[in-house]
Amino acid sequence: MAENISIWYKGIEYGSLGEIKAPEVGKYTDRLVRRLFHTAEDYREIIIRNMDGMDFVSYSKKTLVPAKKTFDLSFALACVMEDRLRSGPCHVLEIGTGTGVFPITLRALISDPNLIITATDISGDALTVADLNIQLNGLCPNSIRLIKKDGLANTHGLPCLPDIVFSNPPFSPTNRINFVNAGGVHPVLALDGGGDGTYYYERFLFESRRILKHKGSIIFQLPLGADDIQRTMRLIACRTDDRAIALEDCMSRYRKVGPQFVVIGNNNLPELLSRHGYTTTEI
Ligand SMILES: C[S@@+](CC[C@H](N)C(=O)[O-])C[C@H]1O[C@@H](n2cnc3c(N)ncnc32)[C@H](O)[C@@H]1O
Repeated sequence: MAENISIWYKGIEYGSLGEIKAPEVGKYTDRLVRRLFHTAEDYREIIIRNMDGMDFVSYSKKTLVPAKKTFDLSFALACVMEDRLRSGPCHVLEIGTGTGVFPITLRALISDPNLIITATDISGDALTVADLNIQLNGLCPNSIRLIKKDGLANTHGLPCLPDIVFSNPPFSPTNRINFVNAGGVHPVLALDGGGDGTYYYERFLFESRRILKHKGSIIFQLPLGADDIQRTMRLIACRTDDRAIALEDCMSRYRKVGPQFVVIGNNNLPELLSRHGYTTTEI
């Protein structure tokens, strides 16, 4: 697990993403991040640094400021991948990559070309920021395929069918966006999950099932609040015949509200991930 994700401004460490206290879960790092984003003249001066010294920028209103749990999952998946790659190539695809934290962390930890990584986003701005972050971390530009794409309705541009699809889709109920986006730092496009917040979970689940390889997995990052998490898990359980397992990092401050991820698929990926700090529960 990524122990310490720090925020830096003009070369000075501001605080840690994992330790910042927030009065409500929905606001998580916002107090600090909002202040920074409102005072910085150049967003490239705000750096989110993970424990491996990898740096990420996030542009106000263009990309969601990444959450610690997204870094954590990329670390855990990278550990699992090393074994998996011994039995052949594996294609990991993210829908809605934002800053590119998930694919970039994975690629930095695993350079093996047998790991094929694709990251999509409907937002051209997000892909520009993800590309900047690929460069910032000295990764080969071709090592992560970035595609501007609306969901996964078709396979255009994909190098092959995915084995694993990951998504942290827009997750907020429409009428709560202002609460989640206090300060307006995040782009609405990254947050608005339609009506009760489950629109993209349902849609991306449906679309990725149609193109996923046999015995593949879909991993969803869950929303922020306890009610939203429960509602989203119920929806996922109703919409799939496959095994759906909730992952909860019991050491994390998110434990107070419930699981952070759901893994859907008839394979042992949840058990493998559970060796890296998660407890698993069937939903
Ligand atoms: C909650 S943010 C997640 C960003 C990043 N993956 C992270 O975890 O920090 C959702 C992302 O989905 C993208 N998005 C919204 N609608 C989309 C769609 N129809 N197809 C693909 N991406 C979409 C947004 O632009 C945004 O970058």
